[in-house]
Amino acid sequence: MTETTQRIPGIDDIPEWARFTATENRQYLQGGLRHWDGPLQRVVSPIPLRDSRGGVAQAHLGAVPQLSSAVAEASVRTAAEAFDAGDGPWPSLSLEQRADIVRTFVANLRPLRERIALHIMWEVGKVYEEALNEFDRTLEYTLETIDAALDLDKRERRDTSLQQVVGRVDLLPVGVALCVGPYNYPFYETLTNAIPALLMGNTVIIKAPPQGGLLYGLLLPVFARHFPDGIVSVLFGDGEELLLPIMRSGRVSILAFIGTSATADALITAHPAPHRLHTVLGMEAKNAGIVMPDAPMEITVEEVVKGALAFNGQRCAAIKILFVHAEVADDFVARLRERFAATTPGMPWEDVRCTPVISEGHAAYLEGLIEDALAQGASLENEGGGQRQLTLMQPALLSGVREGMRVFDEEQFGPILPVVPFQRVDEALHYIKHARYGQQCSVFGSDPSVLRRIVTASARYVGRVNINGKCQRGPDHFPFTGKRDSALGTVSIEEALRRFCISTVIATPEYPENTALWKRLS
Ligand code: G3H
Repeated sequence: MTETTQRIPGIDDIPEWARFTATENRQYLQGGLRHWDGPLQRVVSPIPLRDSRGGVAQAHLGAVPQLSSAVAEASVRTAAEAFDAGDGPWPSLSLEQRADIVRTFVANLRPLRERIALHIMWEVGKVYEEALNEFDRTLEYTLETIDAALDLDKRERRDTSLQQVVGRVDLLPVGVALCVGPYNYPFYETLTNAIPALLMGNTVIIKAPPQGGLLYGLLLPVFARHFPDGIVSVLFGDGEELLLPIMRSGRVSILAFIGTSATADALITAHPAPHRLHTVLGMEAKNAGIVMPDAPMEITVEEVVKGALAFNGQRCAAIKILFVHAEVADDFVARLRERFAATTPGMPWEDVRCTPVISEGHAAYLEGLIEDALAQGASLENEGGGQRQLTLMQPALLSGVREGMRVFDEEQFGPILPVVPFQRVDEALHYIKHARYGQQCSVFGSDPSVLRRIVTASARYVGRVNINGKCQRGPDHFPFTGKRDSALGTVSIEEALRRFCISTVIATPEYPENTALWKRLS
């Protein structure tokens, strides 16, 4: 038995509180809760388990409906009819009325906290504490979104008189919003689009992610209880089978999508009138870190390790390539080597940072990136880095990475940190400037004049520059966006609200008669 196999538990090794009972969800939401008699999609965990004969396989978690394109078409028809060009009962409610409903919805989600976190842990392999944090962060985001919406609406509605015209702005919904989120934040990334969309009066179709989709079975009755039929649909199954017919219908007004740019393009171009489609897109990233010779070493090591390895590097905002000044490269890589060597992956109910990666296929892809880099002259700094048993993979620190290696350009979305030495900071800036992606970067240093120059340059290329800190989305009040192939549109608590509505002006020229009428109207 290898060392990694020894870390793979059998059922009896799992603490009682962390065990998962396989569940089969046969329900979906489309014009009310519905039962599905058709084929099911099997759900497996990234977590490998050892059986009594020593064999190892990914845990079986249950199944979700593998809905058909006919169901997808029905759901978009239902959502469009429920919206009814803005005349439907949901968009016709006042913002205050919708806010009350969303608030009660959130209150009724709260008791599901531990069950949802357990789902997140098993479905995507996230450490339990982080899964709880994903739940809490989502609810907090939702409640703050409600307050922000009421505040924004009040500000916009205020009368403004300019050039003899008095008017106000009403924030009105757009139509049907299709919300598609990723597996890495199966709860947070989908709901932080779906909730602002609903709050602003749109009708919503949620496509549950393939991993992290089983947890939506828990949400179905809560959605059904709080939102009138047709306002929210929740679909399960194959993305292509469901999403393409929905887009081809031409009935979607907003696509809120987090995933790859190739899929975003396929969905947008499937829409018969893409010029009417509002989009909120979060796509790939290859966030770079730049370590200058005067970087505060302890902080830098800490932030780089967190940035590269939190949730196995399976975060869009992970640090995915690190440029280290040649003057400190040996020392810095040695410090990282120590940290990587001490990072032993384990099970998400244990006290670990790294857990099994999302699938065996992805683990094999990561292995391919490491092999390619090593074949082209990179060095593996930590012994055993990249070794794996199914999905349980030892993080890998690669030094001597350079252009031409796949890991230099491709978004690994996994526990590999490629390190590129540089002599002149322009080499690192050149990478950031010419990369396909432009989400964030991190700069580590102490000299304000050097930092100012790097920050000013890199801010032109990416959506956020972090100084002596890892790349990250939070705090959620900050705009989260990216440039080039990384994102389209900005989300933050307030900006997300603006993405899901259209500022509609009601105005009148200020003739005395009109002014008198205006006062009586308001
Ligand atoms: O996967 C992308 C996440 O939105 C980034 O959020 O920085 O909190 O991991 P995070």
